[in-house]
Formats: sequence, structure tokens, C-alpha cells
Amino acid sequence: MPNLAAPSRVRFEHHPDGFGIGNPSPRLSWIVTEAPSGYIQSAYEVEWSPEDGEPEIVRVDSGEQVLVPWPFAPLGSRQRGDVRIRVSGGREWSPWSEPTTVEAGLLSPDDWSALFISPAEGAAFGDPAPFVQGTFEAKGEIARARVYATALGIYTISLNGQRVGDHIFAPGWTSYHHRLRYQTYDVADLISPGENVIESVLGNGWYRGYLGWQDQHSVYGDDLALMMQLEITYADGTTQLVVTDGSWRAGSTGILQNDFYNGQTTDLTVDKAEPATPVEIVGQDRSILVAADGPPIRVTQTISAKEVFRSPTGKLLVDFGQNLVGWVRLTARNTTQGQRVVIRHAEVLEHGELGTRPLRSAKATDEFILPAAEEITLEPELTFHGFRYAEITGLDDVIPEDVTALVIHSDMERIGWFECSDPLLNQLHDNVVWGMRGNFVDVPTDCPQRDERMGWTGDIEVFAPTATFLYDSAGFLTSWLADLAAEQKPNGAVPYVVPDVLHQDDPTAAAWGDAATIVPWTLFQRFGDVGILRRQLPSMMAWVDRQADLAGDDLLWTGSFQFGDWLDPTAPPDEPGKSKVDPDLVATAYFAYSAQIVADAASVLGEADIAETYGSLAASVREAIRNAWVMADGRVHSDAQTGYAMMIAFDLLETEEQRRRAGERLAELVREADYHIATGFVGTSIIMDALCATGQEDTAWKLFLQQGCPSWLYPVTMGATTIWERWDSMLPDGSINPGSMTSFNHYALGAVADWMHRSLAGLASAAPGYREIVVRPILNDAVTFASARHITPYGEASVSWTRDNGTFTLRLDVPVGSKAIVYLPSAPEPERVSHGVHTWSVPIS
Ligand code: BGC
Repeated sequence: MPNLAAPSRVRFEHHPDGFGIGNPSPRLSWIVTEAPSGYIQSAYEVEWSPEDGEPEIVRVDSGEQVLVPWPFAPLGSRQRGDVRIRVSGGREWSPWSEPTTVEAGLLSPDDWSALFISPAEGAAFGDPAPFVQGTFEAKGEIARARVYATALGIYTISLNGQRVGDHIFAPGWTSYHHRLRYQTYDVADLISPGENVIESVLGNGWYRGYLGWQDQHSVYGDDLALMMQLEITYADGTTQLVVTDGSWRAGSTGILQNDFYNGQTTDLTVDKAEPATPVEIVGQDRSILVAADGPPIRVTQTISAKEVFRSPTGKLLVDFGQNLVGWVRLTARNTTQGQRVVIRHAEVLEHGELGTRPLRSAKATDEFILPAAEEITLEPELTFHGFRYAEITGLDDVIPEDVTALVIHSDMERIGWFECSDPLLNQLHDNVVWGMRGNFVDVPTDCPQRDERMGWTGDIEVFAPTATFLYDSAGFLTSWLADLAAEQKPNGAVPYVVPDVLHQDDPTAAAWGDAATIVPWTLFQRFGDVGILRRQLPSMMAWVDRQADLAGDDLLWTGSFQFGDWLDPTAPPDEPGKSKVDPDLVATAYFAYSAQIVADAASVLGEADIAETYGSLAASVREAIRNAWVMADGRVHSDAQTGYAMMIAFDLLETEEQRRRAGERLAELVREADYHIATGFVGTSIIMDALCATGQEDTAWKLFLQQGCPSWLYPVTMGATTIWERWDSMLPDGSINPGSMTSFNHYALGAVADWMHRSLAGLASAAPGYREIVVRPILNDAVTFASARHITPYGEASVSWTRDNGTFTLRLDVPVGSKAIVYLPSAPEPERVSHGVHTWSVPIS
């Protein structure tokens, strides 16, 4: 019998490491990797050993281990200490966990003495990227040194020429007028005795670069600025403060221009100018400063070139074998002074040449002006591109070893995996993972390559369940939801993109605005985070209230602008919203669904009145939908797949009989379409569940395994390595879809991966945070083996099964603190098991 292991993986909120945390009372979570059978936690103890005080221990009689309240006095700014945890199931205590350190950031605006400084000259939009510089004298031995920094624009900091931290594009992208992130870095090792030089290069980023397809830049402001505060504590206890202020000087770098869409031009022949020009102090509200909830963007992988070759017209092309997001690092040799090297990027080739039309106005071009050198490495630092191919001009011979792609994204921990016996399905799943990596770049974006790359709400609304399985995206999405709430209009309308750079007066579109309810509800379901519901409830209610206003007395939300079932494959390339399903039905169905989510969230929070109000609103909207759209024989006016899928998946019907009929008609429509996909963003995310929930599994599988165009697997057969925006972003003849909106890296249609995890492999959460797991694989002869693994808030859960010669074998690992309910093929009743490894072998026909 296993012993009760010490808790591990102690975490603070959803923070990656507890360093520089902004929450003074961070909730705690831990896992227990091993416990005797029958163990159920009944109490835990938390020990807090602050660096500046005496240790304390608090005992709590509770079975909770996920996001439990901080049981001590709130942390002060900069306060640091160790936390240890031990648990008991009523008898003896486990050993203590290893100590885990937490350190608060600057929690109050008053903690900042630094000022925002902006170069006074030569740093307007269109000028070279500026830098600002300060110097300071350091004395003896250093006990601790922290840099706290943020910027209007993006910044990198170096201390004595050495890069501070490994964050890319800090401070990241938030709704800058409401929330501006700052970062905390440990710089003790970078400071030398005597004179030190601290310097920061400022880039346009989201703040001042081009943003959106309407040729707009400087959306947030015209001037770049840095605020940085270096706090040194010496071994003798004395402290020193170095801050950005009027004493700093500015200059310009050889980065002649930098922009996320257009790329970077770098003149490597010029030595950086002396910092000769003054800086200006910029007034800025410090109450909007926040610490990060999730991880920063980092370089997470480097990929070698797979092939370097000449295109039909003689261009030098590089194939990285993977559509990715980041930039190219290139080594050039024996260069001459003034030689120019240009790197253009694209996701696909068309007729053997770089296919740049989908980039629209984004130039995606990096240019370097070289000095004479035996060997020099070329790499931009203030831009990124979405690409698989690069075209290099200005160098004659390039070998694959000279070219590397650097992959960047928000550096979330991978927590979910899937594999099965079908290589095409595995590739589809890989494509989903890459789609998420390329589009979780500080905010959840639609695409990473063209003149867009914005936080489209509808895309993450459908993808959130998949995202939360694959990566620990809780902190990332927690931050984004704070922006969503901050950007919501006073009447509850939710901008189509968050952060809002479109600035519509009254943006109301179903499925997009419903990110306000569905994303927090997903975080609660997957991470057990009740706090996110508490924080978002007003935003969730405001959105549903706006839907109710728009629907009016008959509770039918009709006649407004809608994106509808966006990108239904039958919609003409330039009218992507022209779906088969009635957009008013989409709107009203989402209204019912969101109202129910608000009611359920309110129940979880113990808000009985709110639960009652929104619960009865949801019931009335469902009834109104049935009266308006559902005919006596169960058919739906607007007889389209997405209509039936919503009726089933959003639970809009009244009787089992209606559900059964809706399922039958849905399956009939899928057969009529010859098992080709016929849904857009909305229908695609729910159609597999809708079919499987109504006994139409065979039809679901045929739809899923279809390889012809359009289908999930068609892009895979065309060599796709990411999920495409359109079912046919590339047409079967290898030409690019003529629509003006044709990305090859959009995650929305990859939302089916959630079904693969839950229903193909069979690993699903049945109670918030996977406190209960349900294992119910939906089998098909085409797949003989599948597995899914997920690091739940309670620890790692995994399911893997095989079917072989009439035997179905299942292995299930349930983490301590969770339990599972298991449906085996042809067994009359499900089995219930607690933590540990369980295996079954049963006959299967
Ligand atoms: C984006 C989408 C988005 C849509 C809504 C597009 O341009 O790329 O993914 O949701 O617009 O209209």
C-alpha cells in the first residue's frame, strides 16, 4: 500500500512561479502524487516562513487542495518567503512539501518612485527605435536586486550589456488604458561593483505599431516611454534605488524601423549613438499597473531549416517544415560593408513561390544592412511573423545549417497530450497544438501573420475548452478576461476584439460576446476556479442583460448584425458570415445558453436571487426559441446542421423525444452532405458532441474521418501543419483561396480537439477542476488505440485504451483527490473508482 506522499507542485493562484506576484493573498494549490487507497484529505497545514519574520503554521480542516484561501496576513510589497504544506486524511500527517518561494511585486502605486521617461527628440513614429540609458555606482556585496519595469510600447533592458530576463515583447498586450503590466526581474548577478550602465531599447509593439487592417497605427499613443525601478539591497542591509527620471539620456539604435506586421529593418553598420539627447517625463496613471497573472512570451523552441532550395523563378527559399510563429535567425559569412539581406515570410507556397497574398498589407519583411564581417548573425528583436517559408535575398549561398526559426508564444506549461492509432488524426491534433502556440501570444489572437492578430472574442469562445486541456492557460485567460470586463461598454456590450482596437459604439454579436460567459465558465470547469466566476459575474450578467435588451419582450434576438455561423463552407469566399443557419437563431440560442451559464455560476457562488432571475430568463428564452423555430415534428425552421447542433448542445429542447428527433435530423443532414463538414465556427465546435449525445455516433465518426474537402482531415491530406482559418484555405489544386481572409493558422476550427480528448480518448472532467473524471470513449473500428493525459489541478490523469482481437483494454490513472466514473463497452452499469491505477479487459464485438 503506498504511503501518503508529501504534497508537491505547490502553486500560487495560476502564476507560473510565484515570483513578482500581484495578489497579496494568493490562493494555494498542491497535488499529492501518492496516497493509500481510501485516503481522502480531511485537513491541511500551511507553513509560512517570511524572510522578514517568524514562521507561522495554520491548520485548516478541509478536503480542498485547489485554490484554497491564503491563510495568513496579506503579503506586503516585495515580501518574500517560503510556503510548505502537509496534509492528512485523519490519521497521520504526510511529510512537509519542499519549500516553495513566493515573492510579491510592487502592490501599490506608491511603491513606485520611477517616472515614465520618453526620448525628447528623434523618437517619433517612423524614427529609428530609441534607447534610454542611466548609470549608477554600486558598492559592496549584493544581497538582492530587483528590476521592476514597464513601458508604453515594448521594451528590452540590459545591464552592463547583458540582457535582463528572457521575456519577449514585455510588458505584453493588455487593455493599456485600464491595465498596464509591469515585470519583476532578479538582476543580482548582473550588477558589478563600481559603475553600471542600465539601458532599454523601446519598440512600437502593439502600443504604437500598426494594428488592424485599416492602416491605423499609434492606437494607444504617439510616444514610447519606459518606467524602471532598480532596487538593490546590500549584504550590510543598506539599500539603493535607481529609477528612470530626468537624469537619463536617450539615443537611437540601428533599428531603422520596427513593426509587428511589417517587420524590422536593422542597420548593423552603425554603432549605437552615444546617449546624447534628453528625456521627457511622461505623466501616467500608476493605479493601472498590474503584475502578470500568467507567463510571459518567450522563445520556446528553435527549429532547423528542413530544406533550402530555389523557386521556379530562382528565389532562394527556406522550408522549416512547420508553420510557426516567431522569426528567422540567419548566419551570414564573408559579408561586405553595406550589403543588404532581406527575409520575407509566408505560410505557404503558391506555384512554388512565397504565397504572401494572405498577409494582406502586412509586409512581414526583415531587412539587414551589413558590415564587412567574416561571420555575423542576423535576427530581429522587435517583430514576429507567422510563417513556414522564408525567402532570402542578398546572400548567394545559404545552407540549412545557417538558418533557424525561433518559436515564440506565451510560455504556458503544456498539460495535455493525445495520441491514437491513426496518423492523420495525430497530425490533426498536432496542428491544433501548433495553432494554439502561434496564437497565444499574450492575448488569444485569431491569427499570427496578416494585418490582424487581434483578440477576437468568438475564436477563443469556441477554442477555450481545447486550450485549457492542452496548456495551463488559466493565468493567461484570467488576465484576458480582466481586459474583457474593463473594455465592456456601459450597456454590457462586449467588443469584438479584446483589447479593443476597433472601438465600435455598440458591438453586439452572438458567439463573440458570449466569450464573456463561456470563457470564465470553462476556466471554472477545467481549473476549479470559483474566484474567476466571482470576479467575472458582473461582466457575465452585463452581457446577458445586453442580449435581453436587444431581444426585447418576445425574447427573440433578431435583426441585429451577426457574424452567425462564421465561415460555413458554403458561404461565398467574400461573405464569410453568410451561413446556412439563421443568424437570429444563433443569436437567440447563445442568449439562452449564456443566461443559463450566469444562473449556474450564480448558484455556485451562492447567489440564489441572481440564479433564480437568470435561470428563469434562460427557461423563457428556450421556450421562445421552441415556439419560434421548432416545428411539431421536431424539425427546426432554418433546417441546417448548426441549428440542430445548438438545440442539442445548448440543451434548448424540452423533451427527450425532441432531442432524439433533432439528433436524427442532424445525422440526416450530415449524410446528405456526404459526411463533409457543413458548419462554421459555431457549429463545428459542438457538432460532434451533438451527434454523440443523441445516439448518432456512427455518423459522427464518418464526419470526423472524412478526408475530402471540406473536412477536418482535408487540410492534413494537403500537408497542413496548423489549423486553417477556412476549410479550404488552400484549394485542392494547390492555389490559395481567393477570399481576402485566408489564414493558415487560426485555431477556431480546431475546437474539435476537445472532443478528441473527452470522447475519442475518453478523458473528461465531470466536476469542476477534474475533481471527478468521466471515462467514456466513443469507439469506432477505425481507431484501435487512443490515449490522453492531462495534468489536472489534482495531478496527472491518464486514459489509454486498445482494442485487439475482440478485447478492449483500458488503463486509467486517477490522481489523489479525484475519482472517476468509467463506462466500459457493453457493461450495464458504470464503475466508480478512486485514485490510483486501474485496468480492465473486457470482450468487445
Ligand atoms: C478574424 C476571425 C474573427 C472574424 C470575425 C476575422 O477577420 O480573423 O477569426 O473572429 O474576423 O468577424
